[in-house]
Amino acid sequence: MAQLWGGRFTGETDQLVYEFNASVSFDKRLYRQDIEGSIAHVKMLGKQGILTEEETQETVSCLGNIRADVEEGRLAITGEYEDIHSFVEAELTKRLGDTGKKLHTGRSRNDQVALDMRLYTREEVEKTDGLLKELLEVILHIMEENTETVMPGFTHLQKAQPVTLAHHMGAYFEMFKRDRLRMHDIYERMNYCPLGSGALAGTTYPLDRDYTARLLGFYGPTLNSMDGVSDRDYLIEYLGACATIMMHLSRFSEEIILWNSNEYQFVELDDAYSTGSSIMPQKKNPDIAELVRGKCGRVYGALLSLLTTMKGLPLAYNKDMQEDKELSFDAMDTVKDCIRLFTGMLSTVTFHRGRMRESAGLGFTNATDAADYLVNHGVPFRDAHAVVGRIVLFCVEKGIAIDDMSLEELQEISPVFQEDIFEAISMEACVNRRLTAGAPGKEAVERVIALEKEYLKK
Ligand code: ARG
Repeated sequence: MAQLWGGRFTGETDQLVYEFNASVSFDKRLYRQDIEGSIAHVKMLGKQGILTEEETQETVSCLGNIRADVEEGRLAITGEYEDIHSFVEAELTKRLGDTGKKLHTGRSRNDQVALDMRLYTREEVEKTDGLLKELLEVILHIMEENTETVMPGFTHLQKAQPVTLAHHMGAYFEMFKRDRLRMHDIYERMNYCPLGSGALAGTTYPLDRDYTARLLGFYGPTLNSMDGVSDRDYLIEYLGACATIMMHLSRFSEEIILWNSNEYQFVELDDAYSTGSSIMPQKKNPDIAELVRGKCGRVYGALLSLLTTMKGLPLAYNKDMQEDKELSFDAMDTVKDCIRLFTGMLSTVTFHRGRMRESAGLGFTNATDAADYLVNHGVPFRDAHAVVGRIVLFCVEKGIAIDDMSLEELQEISPVFQEDIFEAISMEACVNRRLTAGAPGKEAVERVIALEKEYLKK
């Protein structure tokens, strides 16, 4: 056991207590951020004359060597240290002797870990944003190719009105675009540096917090040392945004699963993104979509867990906050994997356009348009609704679509119908008359595609 705080103690730490308390097994993934923060801290100590120029240079280059040794596998981060901070400091002292022991001047592990976690999360925010952008590019590509691909739109999972595949995909484009905006907002709010907050009350050394903040790419230092060490809002916000991404991916996955089923046959997944059954030879299962849908739970769990950990914590740092890591790391890994895999699956899926069109033609998705036809010929909407209701009943009994009725049959129910009704209720006409902003008509969707293209270029 190697501890940084042995001086005050005479007895040994109980082994179980040591293990329960230690975090190195999971915070070792912060080594890069920890070293980056230490380098900035040391440079600032040198600039302020707290370390000599020689000590500063020696420490900075040694920290760089430690990072390279870890990265290239020459140095293992082992369980004999309490946490990543102890590991780095011990290694530095091993290599530099007394100079290494000066690293922690004007710093506490409380502001150190607050910084490490913030740096790590900031990178995750950027990576998540980048992956979402790739997903949006795939969605936009599908939209461009399918502005004329008619398919049924659903409410209550019942066929409602015809839309196009481009329009359906456009809904997901909006969702993931908002997810990116959330990443952007979180970045703007979180990008302030807690280093220099000390244990909770700043320090007596003349630290230059603006300087370290700038070195580490922050907009500036946090403005309250007690908040600086105990704020995990940015992580909660990030997990909240991740939970929303997972909810979106899960809804999309659910549709892919339905569309890939024998009943729908709207899509077929590529072999690379489906799996077989060990007993049923005919099976081609959408496991990836199901797993993405399923993994929603652990990301929601991470959010709820951290919210609960933080609830009721008095200022400032409390050891409870060490619990911000394991589930957050798991959620970060999960979200990135899910976006990546989903993007791959979506970019290789085959759309059965004929089946979609056929399905839109069944199920009376043009009933509203038949009623609109009557309204356009002077019939009050409520009466038109009742007329078309009778038409649907007639068709259900005969097992046919409205388009299959003869003009005579239609006129028997309402003499207002003329020959042009058939053109008016064709799937293509139903879709392409819907031209208001955000509607599925081809021209309306093309206007949106042009806007989204510009957006993705930014
Ligand atoms: N492993 C700790 C954490 O993650 C580091 C901070 C320790 N600070 C302390 N006062 N014990 O929160």
